[in-house]
Amino acid sequence: MLEGKRILLGVSGGVAAYKAVLLARELTTRGADLRVAMTHTATRFVGPQTFAALVGTAPALDLTDASRGGELHIELARWAQALVVAPATANLLARLAHGLAEDPISATALAFDGPLFLAPAMHHRMWAHPATCANVATLAARGARLVGPAYGRLASGEEGEGRMSEPADIVAAIEALVSDAGARADLEGLRILVSAGPTLEAIDPVRYLGNRSSGRMGWALATRARERGAIVTLVAGPVALADPEGIEVVHVRSALDMEAAIQSRREQVDAIVMAAAVADFRPAEVSREKLKKRDGDPAPTIQLVRNPDILRGLGEQRRGARPLLVGFAVETTDLLASARQKLEAKRADLIVANHASVAFEGDENEAFLVDAQGVTPTGRLAKRALADRILDVIRSKSRPES
Ligand code: C5P
Repeated sequence: MLEGKRILLGVSGGVAAYKAVLLARELTTRGADLRVAMTHTATRFVGPQTFAALVGTAPALDLTDASRGGELHIELARWAQALVVAPATANLLARLAHGLAEDPISATALAFDGPLFLAPAMHHRMWAHPATCANVATLAARGARLVGPAYGRLASGEEGEGRMSEPADIVAAIEALVSDAGARADLEGLRILVSAGPTLEAIDPVRYLGNRSSGRMGWALATRARERGAIVTLVAGPVALADPEGIEVVHVRSALDMEAAIQSRREQVDAIVMAAAVADFRPAEVSREKLKKRDGDPAPTIQLVRNPDILRGLGEQRRGARPLLVGFAVETTDLLASARQKLEAKRADLIVANHASVAFEGDENEAFLVDAQGVTPTGRLAKRALADRILDVIRSKSRPES
């Protein structure tokens, strides 16, 4: 999918630089036309000769190499269709955020206005430092795409968030964007239903129980599925987002409404993605009149009853392989264990697990894709890129009905 795409790989100086070698190989295997730029420190971790042998051209190392004519960083910035920095050290992120231009990567970045991918790698305390957080926020606000870092064992021997994402994950993020994914129609013919947003459970005519779901993940899924050629229905709880174009949107309010809307369509679709944050409970009774507060009266007690688990219901009803079922697990603790448990209990084909801290607001998410084969961490991704990863799994699991 990267056939002929001109990609500049920037390698900065951290232990993870050795993984950049695998990334370079992965990118060239997929047909990318690759060039490499390295910081001086990176050359201490991996020999430039390794990249030269893999890529076929010598890495850019020195901006002031008098033996070359012209301005190397300008030439590279003009040539590249995407700039991928992996690993991106804390130091390099700081340079990029502040517009410094003292090495081939940051100088090229300053002259480059195409997509910039950053795969950070550093000790978890450096990643969590407010200075790094501010630099990353600046870069993200300018449109840079962060891939990772992942959680795991670090060079120091400790565990934490700071590992460079695996080369395959970086490649997937690049492919989702650079390979002109918008024009890719690889989901043509698939009918996909996506649920999104919260459900609101009425207490009385003016009050409800709700949750913080913004609907953005479901919107990203529905939009990307449509852009990739699927026929999409979006069953949406109340959110502040405009209806996407080219998609049938069914507006619902409560979990019971959502269940009815999905049930009446389940036989017409190939896959159902439950991205909605369905309320688990609803008030047992909805007061017909607004509940009033009267001086001296105690606060009312609201009795709750369980809502149906829509996904579980779909899993139980399903006979063959269709519809394919994808659920989300948003947790604050025991993320992977509960995702595995949900995969089984709800008889889903895939559970997308994420921490409550990243799941709801904002345009980014960081998830683990959990299926019968195992767990794949996605690293931190834009919701659209995560949507593509989920849709890739749906595509690969969708088999013609036998
Ligand atoms: O069990 P839990 O609520 O954590 O499961 C989350 C997944 O199940 C999500 O995909 C959500 O859309 C779905 N769900 C559902 N019906 C419910 C609660 C959750 O379909 N009542």
